Amino acid sequence: MTDKAIPGGDTVKVEFEDGIAWVHLNRPEKRNAMSVGLAREMNAVFDALEVDDRAGCIVLTGSGEAFSSGMDLKDFFRATDGISDVERHRAYRETRAWQWRTLMYYAKPTIAMVNGWCFGGAFTPLICCDLAIADEDAVFGLSEINWGIIPGGVVSKAISTLMGDREALYYVMTGEKFDGRRAKELGLVNEAVPKDRLKARTRELAKILIDKNPTVLRQARMAYKYAREMNWEQAAEYLTAKGDQTTFVDREKGREQGLTQFLDEKTFKPGHGHYKREEEQDG
Ligand code: COA
Repeated sequence: MTDKAIPGGDTVKVEFEDGIAWVHLNRPEKRNAMSVGLAREMNAVFDALEVDDRAGCIVLTGSGEAFSSGMDLKDFFRATDGISDVERHRAYRETRAWQWRTLMYYAKPTIAMVNGWCFGGAFTPLICCDLAIADEDAVFGLSEINWGIIPGGVVSKAISTLMGDREALYYVMTGEKFDGRRAKELGLVNEAVPKDRLKARTRELAKILIDKNPTVLRQARMAYKYAREMNWEQAAEYLTAKGDQTTFVDREKGREQGLTQFLDEKTFKPGHGHYKREEEQDG
């Protein structure tokens, strides 16, 4: 199903370009601080894009000079101080939904493009995207300690999945800033590139993902994310079953095409690139 309306609203801006949906945190005057309202719009946007043919790959980025300055101190923290327990629970649930659960298990590939400030709560969506590219001069920081809170939400858990304990605790405890180059060293992003290459390199990477068999790509992402939580025995059984399921649900019959083109027709070698896709289908 394709919804031809452009999803989004005041705080989230979406642009489509050749199969890429550029999703902008869009409160540049507040350095894209994440409010409760922004969470609601993000949830609606990700829900819509999942079934929108114009979005083969999602790039999450920020409008203006920030990726995101983290949770909004006024419109998230102070705003949820004075409300009922139930309302607070809902606000937290809506925030966690898009930042963590939706992004982590999204049906389409996701890239975080860190174009500037990236603080506190912004680490959660950054880490829950599949891949990430940063401006080498972007400024990152777990600034929570500096204003008297712990890296909450699921930030502490999220950083522990990508950073080593020494590095994670160093930044949790000192609140020291670091740049995109350091983020690459820490494993928080795949690449750090100069600002003038950021969009082009992100587009290049998105295009590589869009050109893959979408069903197999989705299954491969999910298989990796679930298998890492399992022990070896469970993972071996799960991955064998997931492999069979992938063949079953792949309408493009990628495995068969790959085998035929390599073994029988000798027209391609998997080591050098993707098999020739006869027809692109959104599995
Ligand atoms: N929550 C609420 N408002 C925020 C915000 C946040 N996380 N980050 C920035 N803003 C607001 C500022 O209060 C300011 O609002 P105003 O115009 O009404 O005064 C506006 O956004 C611009 O921010 P400013 O601080 O003037 O921009 P800057 O470019 O000088 O500095 C930062 C950018 C990101 C270094 C700075 O805004 C900052 O430290 N923000 C908080 C970062 C943080 O600790 N986030 C973790 C939250 S868990």
